[in-house]
Amino acid sequence: MNKINIEDIRKYFPIYNNNKELHYLDNAATSLKPACVIDAMNDYYANYGVNIHRGVYKMSYLASTAYEEARDKVAKFINADSKEVVFCRNASEGLNQIDLMLAKTLNPGDHVLSTPLEHHSSILPWQNLQKDGIVLDYIDLDKNYRISLKNIKSKITTNTKVLAITYASNTMGYITDIKDIINYVHELGILVVLDAAQFIPHFKVDVKDIDCDFLAFSGHKMFGPTGIGVFYGKYDLLKKLEPVYFGGDMNNDVDFNKTEIKKPPYCFETGTPAIAEAIGLAKAIEFIEAIGYDAIQKVELDLLKYAIDKLKDIKDVTIYNKNADLGIINFNINGVHPHDAATIFDNYNVALRAGHHCAQLVSRTLGVNGTLRASIYVYNNKEDIDAFIDAIKETISFFKQF
Ligand code: ALA
Repeated sequence: MNKINIEDIRKYFPIYNNNKELHYLDNAATSLKPACVIDAMNDYYANYGVNIHRGVYKMSYLASTAYEEARDKVAKFINADSKEVVFCRNASEGLNQIDLMLAKTLNPGDHVLSTPLEHHSSILPWQNLQKDGIVLDYIDLDKNYRISLKNIKSKITTNTKVLAITYASNTMGYITDIKDIINYVHELGILVVLDAAQFIPHFKVDVKDIDCDFLAFSGHKMFGPTGIGVFYGKYDLLKKLEPVYFGGDMNNDVDFNKTEIKKPPYCFETGTPAIAEAIGLAKAIEFIEAIGYDAIQKVELDLLKYAIDKLKDIKDVTIYNKNADLGIINFNINGVHPHDAATIFDNYNVALRAGHHCAQLVSRTLGVNGTLRASIYVYNNKEDIDAFIDAIKETISFFKQF
């Protein structure tokens, strides 16, 4: 794909053509989709939309090849080996699969350490496994609500076997200093399950460099389609895990009472997978590469600064994450319920998220009953931020009447 010029990036997104008033600031929930991703999926359905790994006819071969090339593309993108890349539905499902499989290798009384900054997907699978005797424990955040190695160290016990941690917070926009953390916990034999869903749309993931054991992310937050995600595991670890899903395509030989399963990654993908979506994800990766992460980060951080400078002049706004590393503003309008505010924002075509953002431990830690979250991606511009600021001012003056 040719290099994409940021100046005219919106032309790649049909939604902007169809909705010229849109000020989309809910990118942490999902990104908009470029035409190339939609086209790649349509092309599969229109020209070779058949099943993979099963047919011996030409079209099936084409579909299998496109699906496996998508896996290779993902592997190269995160610096993994293709056999370490498992397709799943999204980061949530990937983390569930990893956690359920890992849990079978743990003993009652073993601890899983996590953090209050997590998305629910990073903690709820472990919370549910407490019924089997696994102990879920949390670190304290530091005074700026960030994850620190010091606070991790203070919570590790001889029973700690797994660290379930986010690479970037979906509510606070903080990036975790993951390399130092992984380095430290590996010395103690602790495995790391990393939630990269919010990190990978904005920053390069290099699984070898950070040396994580497991990692998961979704396609839909990084220009890809919904319904496709990835989990990564070091091959030596994947080889030792027993799948949690069984059925078609994941086996080599089935007898009445026993089955020989395939090697990773195939043993973890059962049933007809999201073929069009995997192809769409591969195209989304090409799209990110054609923009470049440096350009993505620059746009986002420039717009974040532009927004924060404007917000500083509005005294009825409380910002909870003033020094975010990602283009995320987590805030409240004083005295206004976040859902009421978001409804008014919608009248100004400003789309953002209100509530707990699937990370309710953050709200609990902040001591608030929900917040508003504006999240920026590379196709946003100053007009979006101006509309957002105007919507805040309108909301304040609307509620001041009463
Ligand atoms: N995890 C998504 C969010 O942060 C849905 O909004």
